[in-house]
Amino acid sequence: MSVSIDLSGRVAIVTGGGSGIGRETSQLLARAGAAVAVGDKNKATAQETAEMINKAGGKAIGVEVDVTEPEAAAEAVESTVQAFGPVSILVNNAAAWTVGLFKDITKDDYANKDIGVSLIGTMVMTRAVFDVMRENGGGSIVNLISDSARVGEPFMVAYGAAKGGVISFTKGFAKEAARAKIRVNAVSPGTTKTPGANPIIDKWGGEEKLMAAYPLRRLGEPIDQANAILFFCSDMSSWVTGQVLSVNGGYAMVG
Ligand SMILES: NC(=O)c1ccc[n+]([C@@H]2O[C@H](COP(=O)([O-])OP(=O)(O)OC[C@H]3O[C@@H](n4cnc5c(N)ncnc54)[C@H](O)[C@@H]3O)[C@@H](O)[C@H]2O)c1
Repeated sequence: MSVSIDLSGRVAIVTGGGSGIGRETSQLLARAGAAVAVGDKNKATAQETAEMINKAGGKAIGVEVDVTEPEAAAEAVESTVQAFGPVSILVNNAAAWTVGLFKDITKDDYANKDIGVSLIGTMVMTRAVFDVMRENGGGSIVNLISDSARVGEPFMVAYGAAKGGVISFTKGFAKEAARAKIRVNAVSPGTTKTPGANPIIDKWGGEEKLMAAYPLRRLGEPIDQANAILFFCSDMSSWVTGQVLSVNGGYAMVG
């Protein structure tokens, strides 16, 4: 006997799917049977992920989208529906951040990157997909947050604030959207080896040094996050909404 997760017939949008956790998640959802629209502001990397999926026998398209732009978000949803049918999964993974002491970063930094992409982009994409999901009988939205929002981290204060906003949005919207049979949950990664995080890992002394803070004594791999995201996307979590799951090797244990 075995247990498997089957997303056949589901249509997913993964934002920030051109890199790191978003790329791995796009591939995993496709392996589980979903048709995946890989959204990224970087058209080339979005298409690259989609090609990887199609070559492996899955179904994907690459979609250029800046998640901070409502019109672009609406167009991304529309082209996904045209390619594959109604969307029932959205992974709000795209994010941007500034690293440095709060006194040294500017309003443009956090308005355009941390809060602009990570918080506002999540809200914009969620709104863009909501009507289609509701009309299709429901769905699942998974938001990527960060342990920096749950426990507080220096040098990424604006990013932590933005992700804290995403936690509140996740919980509030989960209650609103439940009547439309839309579940909304969040995955909170600890430090995970991705093109986006690797420069930060180096800046903080490298992998060996950082992993000392992790009880399981390794940093995260993108697949660690993708597995948790898959759980929230699938019917295995059909009675779970408004929740935050840390996937972090035990770094922060938040009650
Ligand atoms: N890697 C980690 O250690 C870590 C830790 C905590 C949380 N996270 C979260 O996980 C998610 C993925 O992180 P990652 O490390 O894979 O990042 P990454 O930098 O490797 O990839 C991010 C992707 O988002 C895209 N993107 C950026 N701005 C965009 C926009 N406006 N519109 C569309 N796409 C945009 C980028 O082009 C890139 O492809 C993020 O939400 C991040 O905050 C990551």
